[in-house]
Amino acid sequence: MRFADFLRIHMPVFILLTLLFSLQVFADNTLGLPELSIPANNPQSQQKIALGQALFFDTRFSKDNSISCASCHQPHKAYTDGVAHAIGINGQTGSRNSPTLLNAAFLQTFFVDGRENSLEQQALKPILNRREHGLENAQQILDVIEHDDTYKKQLQQVFAITEQDIRVEHIAQAIASFERTLIAGNSPFDQYYFAGDRSKLSASAARGLRVFRRKGNCSNCHEISWNNALFTDHRFYNIGIGFKRLADVIDRIEKGGNADQHGLNSEQQAELGRYNVTRVIADIGKFKTPTLRNIALTAPYMHDGSLETLEQVVDYYNEGGDHNRFIDAAIFPLQLSSQEKTDLVTFMQSLTSPQRSVIPEAVQN
Ligand code: HEC
Ligand code: HEC
Repeated sequence: MRFADFLRIHMPVFILLTLLFSLQVFADNTLGLPELSIPANNPQSQQKIALGQALFFDTRFSKDNSISCASCHQPHKAYTDGVAHAIGINGQTGSRNSPTLLNAAFLQTFFVDGRENSLEQQALKPILNRREHGLENAQQILDVIEHDDTYKKQLQQVFAITEQDIRVEHIAQAIASFERTLIAGNSPFDQYYFAGDRSKLSASAARGLRVFRRKGNCSNCHEISWNNALFTDHRFYNIGIGFKRLADVIDRIEKGGNADQHGLNSEQQAELGRYNVTRVIADIGKFKTPTLRNIALTAPYMHDGSLETLEQVVDYYNEGGDHNRFIDAAIFPLQLSSQEKTDLVTFMQSLTSPQRSVIPEAVQN
């Protein structure tokens, strides 16, 4: 056979194989996720991501040099910390549980009450939070940069600016760019549901998926679309968690006036949830629907870390939640059998992405 004939015959096969192979590689981290949109005013670059990563792990951006973003968002725990309430400088605890940062790039609002609208806006808040990193102002952040020639050089290169033009906004942008690389799809569920590989879920997990979508009503809020699943609808609901902390004050708040005038302690203030952003009475105790991806790695659960296991979560929903008059209509007793409860937990365990995407290569060493 002449070489030209060989090429003519084999080239299509070769191209097809290359295509399949590249699809396979592409599918690696992102199977089951929507397309990622990057803000036009903060494009990704390898250098910027590396800078953001260094900032994320740097404890110098805290009052006593003990806390970095990674203290509470630990790569090996799917960027959570395994404790009910986050622990900041001097061992101070906040009132909330640290959420995963995996796939935060796809969220529309940030924090459990959605008070920030972009990763860029969010990034400096923990550094300036009294109980978290504990720095007092933007200047203290810039002081750390001022004493580090590598950061100074990197910032100038990445943003094409002079040393005088370095701003905290650049730091926020770099951290956000790093966070946008924390993408994790391609779980056994994705391979089963989106790639059609029926062998990837056990019979129990497959039954659990059905309970999740039908009898359990879970996908009402933890959404699964036809071509992707973030397991959140980006909305806010009162599902009853933590609401009893408001028992003493709820009547007064409902009667009107600003909640700030009712002398709430900081714990109660935190339980107001979405109300803190909108000041709409109907939003009291509403929290953002969190993703359930990698949920097996992120215990304890809920905004206050009050449920320790997925079994407890399922029991909570099965009983119709902690009833209060603000609870969402989609939370009601489910009458699940013990088999259905087990299946639901097994299903949630199938949402764990492969290790190499949960901990991106860049962070492994
Ligand atoms: C002391 C522990 C702690 C530290 C340190 C910390 N976080 Fe967090 N993080 C939390 C907690 C707790 C929340 C949820 C708070 C809330 O929603 O009110 C959160 C929420 C977030 C969110 C929102 C996620 C979502 O689902 O809406 C992002 C993004 C985030 N943190 C990034 C960072 C970055 C970047 C840093 C470092 C600059 C950082 N965090 C440092 C504990 C921490
Ligand atoms: C009405 C909307 C809604 C429905 C229905 C719903 N959830 Fe949720 N889910 C939420 C919200 C909102 C939160 C966060 C509540 C909080 O932090 O206090 C949440 C939290 C969770 C968490 C904890 C996530 C974390 O990271 O801490 C799990 C697990 C969970 N839900 C599973 C389920 C399962 C299983 C079902 C079905 C039996 C279900 N949900 C039904 C809205 C809903």
